[in-house]
Amino acid sequence: MSSALPHDRLPLAYGGDYNPEQWPREVWEEDVRLMREAGVTVVSLGVFAWARTEPRRGTYDWEWLDTIIGMLHAAGISVDLATPTVVPPAWFYRAHPDALPVTRDGVRLAFGSRGAICHSSADYRAAAASITTKIAERYGSHPAVVLWHVHNEYGAPVLTCYCDNCAAAFRLWLQDRHGSLDALNEAWGTAFWGQQYGDWEEITPPRTTPTVCNPTQQLDYQRFADAQARANFVAERDILHRLSPGVPVTTNFMVAPSQCQSIDYWAWAAEVDLVTNDHYLVTDGRRTHVNLALTADLTRSVAGGGPWLLLEHATSGVNWQPYNPAKLPGEMARNSLSHVARGSEGAMFFQWRQSRSGAEKFHSSMLPHGGTGTRVWNEVVELGRTLGELADLRATRTHGNVAMIWSWESMWAQSLEWRPSEDLDARERLESFYEALYDRHLTVDFFAPSGIGGLDPERYPLLVVPQLYAAPASVAADLESYVARGGTLVVSFFSGIVDENDTVHPGPHPGVLRDVLGLTVEEFSPLLPGEKVTVGTGTGETYEADLWAEVVVPNGCETLATFTDGRTAGHPALTRHVLGEGTAWYLATRLTGDSLAAVVDLALADAGIAPSGLPRDVELVVREGESGTFRFAINHTDAEVKVTLPDGSRACVPAGAVEVFRDPR
Ligand code: GAL
Repeated sequence: MSSALPHDRLPLAYGGDYNPEQWPREVWEEDVRLMREAGVTVVSLGVFAWARTEPRRGTYDWEWLDTIIGMLHAAGISVDLATPTVVPPAWFYRAHPDALPVTRDGVRLAFGSRGAICHSSADYRAAAASITTKIAERYGSHPAVVLWHVHNEYGAPVLTCYCDNCAAAFRLWLQDRHGSLDALNEAWGTAFWGQQYGDWEEITPPRTTPTVCNPTQQLDYQRFADAQARANFVAERDILHRLSPGVPVTTNFMVAPSQCQSIDYWAWAAEVDLVTNDHYLVTDGRRTHVNLALTADLTRSVAGGGPWLLLEHATSGVNWQPYNPAKLPGEMARNSLSHVARGSEGAMFFQWRQSRSGAEKFHSSMLPHGGTGTRVWNEVVELGRTLGELADLRATRTHGNVAMIWSWESMWAQSLEWRPSEDLDARERLESFYEALYDRHLTVDFFAPSGIGGLDPERYPLLVVPQLYAAPASVAADLESYVARGGTLVVSFFSGIVDENDTVHPGPHPGVLRDVLGLTVEEFSPLLPGEKVTVGTGTGETYEADLWAEVVVPNGCETLATFTDGRTAGHPALTRHVLGEGTAWYLATRLTGDSLAAVVDLALADAGIAPSGLPRDVELVVREGESGTFRFAINHTDAEVKVTLPDGSRACVPAGAVEVFRDPR
């Protein structure tokens, strides 16, 4: 679980991936000097340096690492030291070609890029353990090393391999999960299309099939692939714990919904000592700062509300989109400080110095190709100064005030083929509801479906379930208890439908949510692309909806709005069920933008949450703890805004600026 970096050894973390192996020695001196100028406190070192450190099997070159770690240490810069196991050297693959992953279609991927790993390869595991041991033996008690960085972004670019070694490991994993073949046949529903298995050896990974492959086989394979990679992380972590006691071990996550979705970060967070995350803005026409805030809130949530660290983001443009705009002046600081406001113990980047060669030479960095005479460099130096002045934040935490359920397992299940509509997109629903809450200046704490037992309605008056297709039976009682104790629950369509084996819950839809919502869903009736329907409320408002409609049959709930046209005309579209001290709302279609916001406002009124009165795109987030209360006001607009502080005074936040107000003690 998440533990803080040692206070006495690290202020707020500021720095980036540092790849000195790409540069001649004379550059290192300049690097360290400029790092000091920029206020860098820590760098991630050696992430891709296996080939440099072990150029031939069993032959090690420590001199370069000894030198650079020594130089950094002498300059007061700490090291987040990597195990370089994300890119084994060319000599390794030559000797062990079957450690390269195989696609579903049977194509073995080649060396020459990065992250080409079959996580079931015994040869890979042995080599990874060996280099990890060597590095930990050498640097495990080096005073500069404050954090271990295992591997890099497990799951990116490839998590899943379909080779024969994986097939054998999958069978063992299945035996452990299901216990018997009968149980597996039941869980996978193999009676459908005559897929019963009579021997474990008959089971293969879900390789390319003539048409849709058994969905539970696919879902279990996703879980298996996640577990294989996690086991490899744990193996390295345990070596580091043994040889470098007291130094926290992490691996950089990518929790952003637009980035890596093949990892169940709830499970991984339980294995790391400190949750760290990488976040990159995706230029898709949407408000990037909202996606950033969601990612930061989600990272804090997987860290259990404890400390976490932004290990990578970009000073300006990235290089892997079709079009990579530069950040605007001030945007980098707003991005960094938004992560910090939402709980990060600092702000780090990929990478320190922009590369001249290789695949990422057009990715921005702290020290750009243009050198120190650039806007980016000036802003990097300024941000280092700002963070240096915020060291007291280390003893504070960010607390959300509304809750939302997030489940990678459910997203995996829902994204399989042959659903009622191929446009169903859980991620889109989660982002849309999040955006509505963000616009109301609410900070969201996310919970796994298994994490809502005993959720306190006083602490979280609102709980949103934007789309939880696969819901364990346990959520029924937990949600009922939350509502009965006074919570306001908002559930949107296609939730509570199947269990963890992708088997439809018994009885009418929505399975485990029927009782809490006080209704049943008799039939789904998704809309065609471009088709719209209208939803009308009893008080005269109308909303335009798309993507989804269904036949809702009230069973205890009241109807607040109905479909007024389309194939489900006359049936409820928005309902509210009073249960004990609270209410449970259900939205049976897709509303977006202002229409969704209007419904969220109704539920917020039920939850007793008053509007903040702040303008849109002004973020206000609070960190508090032993060292005080810090109010971050982040102005994403082009105009100066005024915010009201708890003592009633009005403070000014200039256009595009970030102000941090510390409550007087
Ligand atoms: C990250 C990765 C870095 C670098 C960065 C910029 O996902 O960890 O090594 O590639 O993206 O593209």
